[in-house]
Amino acid sequence: MSAEKILVTGGCGFIGSCFVRTLHERFPDVEIVNLDVLTYAGNPENLEEIANSPRYRWVRGDVRQAESVDPLMAGADWVVHFAAESHVDRSTSERAGAFVDTNVYGTFTLLDSMRRLAPGARYLQIGTDEVYGDIPAPQLPDEEAMLSPSSPYSASKAGADHLALSFARTHDLDVMVSRCTNNYGPYQYPEKLIPLFITNALDSLPLPLYDGGGQIRDWLRVEDHCEALLLLLERGTRGEIYNVGANQAPERTNLEMTEMILAATGASPSLVEHRHGLRPGHDQRYAVSTEKIRRLGWSPRAEIERGVEETVRWYAEHRDWWEKIKSGAYREFYEAHYGRPASGA
Ligand code: NAD
Ligand code: DAU
Repeated sequence: MSAEKILVTGGCGFIGSCFVRTLHERFPDVEIVNLDVLTYAGNPENLEEIANSPRYRWVRGDVRQAESVDPLMAGADWVVHFAAESHVDRSTSERAGAFVDTNVYGTFTLLDSMRRLAPGARYLQIGTDEVYGDIPAPQLPDEEAMLSPSSPYSASKAGADHLALSFARTHDLDVMVSRCTNNYGPYQYPEKLIPLFITNALDSLPLPLYDGGGQIRDWLRVEDHCEALLLLLERGTRGEIYNVGANQAPERTNLEMTEMILAATGASPSLVEHRHGLRPGHDQRYAVSTEKIRRLGWSPRAEIERGVEETVRWYAEHRDWWEKIKSGAYREFYEAHYGRPASGA
């Protein structure tokens, strides 16, 4: 461990908060600064357990604004960039501009600040496997594969990856890019498949399964993802891209994941509601080769059935966390997107 100060962006979100908790637990001598503006998806309660730690500081500020970023950048040894608009369904609506703005321009602002104020820092761009697009089985794209993003979300993330790598080459910065598959676990905003279906199932509400449910995602526990990121920061090679994923065998369809959730919650299969047309450009399959990061010594620990059961237990025991979210602005998005109220009321 060679870092004394770590700047994390988007640390009040799902994966960022898991990463900050991991850093805090693992590195007792490190200062952790979390820059997060708190969009609808950011929640300081995700980091309540370390909120008063002298080693941790959350600064409410926007990654798109140099005046927010610059004062935090000086002295940073590692910069880990999670902050993003992250929900594909929102990127296919009229809000797509926010994705370009945050995911592309925000990444530029951060890199430019690092170039000026912390040129010796190590930078990790948190990317997604969605940049490779829809992958026919049984292909597993490696890090050299062509990018073919399908949604405004994944296109903006591809742009961010390119920007990060261009700064490595042009300005000789120590930049890496990780590209991970779908995460699941505690503190995930209940708009994504797993937390949405778990919380709806716990309340006996419909589970809106898109387009027959035959699509494949490679589900990875968020804690396993965060371990991979730490390993990259410690042992990854400058200028390189690393795919991260579970490589589930067999691969699981959304319908199979839904059945797992139904079994773990004890909810009725009749809750499944087949919906069509809610995800234009819906990709059939995501999958990546993870040989490169496995060669560094990483492999996922959690297996999927146990992971889903533990995740169901967490949401069942943390109703206070998600009920508050589901009663707020969430309702507007839910109703506009799904065409029905978010609760049974
Ligand atoms: P999330 O939506 O839960 O959290 C995003 C966080 O970024 C929020 O706390 C939000 O307030 C913050 N943020 C947004 N705009 C900001 C801005 N302009 N300035 C400062 N903070 C801002 O996202 P997540 O699911 O935790 O994803 C984190 C990162 O990982 C994203 O870059 C995403 O593209 C990537 N990723 C996610 C997954 C997944 O399955 N969730 C998989 C692979 C990669
Ligand atoms: O692959 C990594 C990506 O995984 C990340 O980059 C994104 O930030 C993250 O949101 C996630 O994207 P997906 O679009 O794959 O995740 P989501 O949970 O939105 O959808 C997973 C699958 O479930 C997808 O095939 C669409 C389907 N789905 C989703 C929702 C929200 C449904 O069937 N019903 C739903 O209500």
